[in-house]
Order: sequence, then C-alpha cells, then structure tokens
Amino acid sequence: MISPEKLDDLVWGGTLPEIEKSAISVPVELTAGCSNFIKDGKIDNKQFNDANESSDFKALMEWANTIKPIIESSPGFSLLKISDVELSNDQLKSLYYAISLGLGKLNNRYGELFEVKDRNLDYKKEAVPVSKTNASTGFHTDSTSAQYSPDIVGLLCLQPGKTGGESIISNTANLYQWLETKHPEFIELLCQNIIRDVITPGSKTDIETIKSNSFPIFSDQTGVFKFRYMRYWILSGHKRCNMEISENLISAMDAIDDFFHHKENQLTYFMKRGDILFINNNFICHSRTEYTDYEEVSKKRTLVRTWINI
Ligand SMILES: [Fe+2]
Repeated sequence: MISPEKLDDLVWGGTLPEIEKSAISVPVELTAGCSNFIKDGKIDNKQFNDANESSDFKALMEWANTIKPIIESSPGFSLLKISDVELSNDQLKSLYYAISLGLGKLNNRYGELFEVKDRNLDYKKEAVPVSKTNASTGFHTDSTSAQYSPDIVGLLCLQPGKTGGESIISNTANLYQWLETKHPEFIELLCQNIIRDVITPGSKTDIETIKSNSFPIFSDQTGVFKFRYMRYWILSGHKRCNMEISENLISAMDAIDDFFHHKENQLTYFMKRGDILFINNNFICHSRTEYTDYEEVSKKRTLVRTWINI
C-alpha cells in the first residue's frame, strides 16, 4: 500500500497539463557556443573531454539541472525545444547528451544514446524491445529488468514518421488514486511481486532467470513511488515459465488499461525535429501509436533515447 502523502506531489490535479503550452525553448545563447562531440552517431571522447571542460557546456548542464524539479514531481515531464533548424543530427545529439547529463547519470545498457527506430522486427514473434519496431507499444514504463529501472526516459526527435508515432503519457499516481476508489480489491495484488519476461540483449533467458525477474507493479520500497508495467512482458514471462496467470491479475491489468484508455487520462503529443521530451519513468507511463515511415531510408522515423538516473 502506498501512503496518500506520497501521491500529493505527483498527481495531476484538476485539468490535464498542456504539453505544448508548457514547452521550454533551450536558450539560443546556450546552444550557440556548444561544440559538437558526436561523430557518426558515436561520442568522440577527445572532443567530449574538451567540451566537458568548456564554460558553454557547463552552462548548458546547469541550465538543464534547473528543469529537474518539473520532472521529479508533478507534472513529471518536460518538453524542450531546440529551435535552430540548421543544426545537424550530430549537433542535436551533442546538445541532447549535455542536457541529459545535466539531469543525472546516463545508463549504458543499450548505449548512452539509443536510436529508437524500426528495425523490421516483431516483438510478438521474438523477445526484442518494442523500441526496435514500428508497432504501437501499449502503455508501459521502460525496462523489464528487476535489477534496473531508469528514473527518467529522454527522447530526442531527429525525424518524425510519415504517419502516426504520437507519444502518449498518463499519470500513474492518478491511476493509483482511481484504483483505490474504483477497484480497491486489486491494490494488494498489484503491490506484490509479478514475473516479467527478460528481453535485455545478452541476458540469460532460462526459466529460473525469468522467474526471479519479478517485482511489483506499484511499490514505494526505496521511498520513491514506482509504477512498473508492460502488460505484454508480464503475459509472455508467465507463458515462458509455463505458469498460469491468475484471473485476478488479468482483471487488475484490465482495470489499469481501462484507466489508460480514457482520453481524459491521456496527454498526446506529436514530436517534431529538435523536440526533447523527458518523462519521469517512476510515475508517468507512456505509449506510442503505430507509425509508418517515408520511403527514403534517410527519412526513417528516428528518436534518440536516454535512460537517466537521478
Ligand atoms: Fe518506452
């Protein structure tokens, strides 16, 4: 059970926050002097070390740090806009990297900067992250590993898709309050350990490993309210262990998805080139609609993800 005071700083009260209206422009005076230390998508350590020493880089990181409170508690997200249309992909990534470092420590499981791009894979046929497909992701939080969960998920848009691919977010502190009122019978179950599939490339995927990859959907064990959910990986984790999933858990997940699918609980935003969206992965759940790409390979929908820990 989560204490009610924990939720006070996290919930969206009254009407939904407005993403577009609350967008923050990254000040041009901070981006103009920043050097480019990404070459062909990779960090050039020498250039990065030089940049890291510069006052421009430090000023950008310090500025990024000032937006952290907006992400740590309600509204739990921040949309930043880099308006210089002349910047190259590598320059945008360099700025994004510096801004992300201003928020915390970057995780390297998939590389510090991970390209979210359709790789013609199907997550329903093999255990691959949905970030490598063009499918609708369904509402989820990032990482299915019991050992690791990012506090913040960052997304930089380099190229939007041709159609679809909107980002949708929902507040799970509001979800918790809604469940307490509408379905209090599910709270205890949702605070217990629940098996998830193992999908991190390179990890062991035997039955014992999957069985031990088990943690609650709602928790506050570390003093932080956490919601960790992706229905598909809960179902496939049980299936791969030959474990029957209880009807009660299915009903509880139906209730969660029912909340997410109500428009009044959703914020939708179509990311444009130069947009950076940071979302709190502890209490904001996200989804992406299915999308199609342009014919040209160079115009393939490309977002760059960071996983950040505060
Ligand atoms: Fe995600």
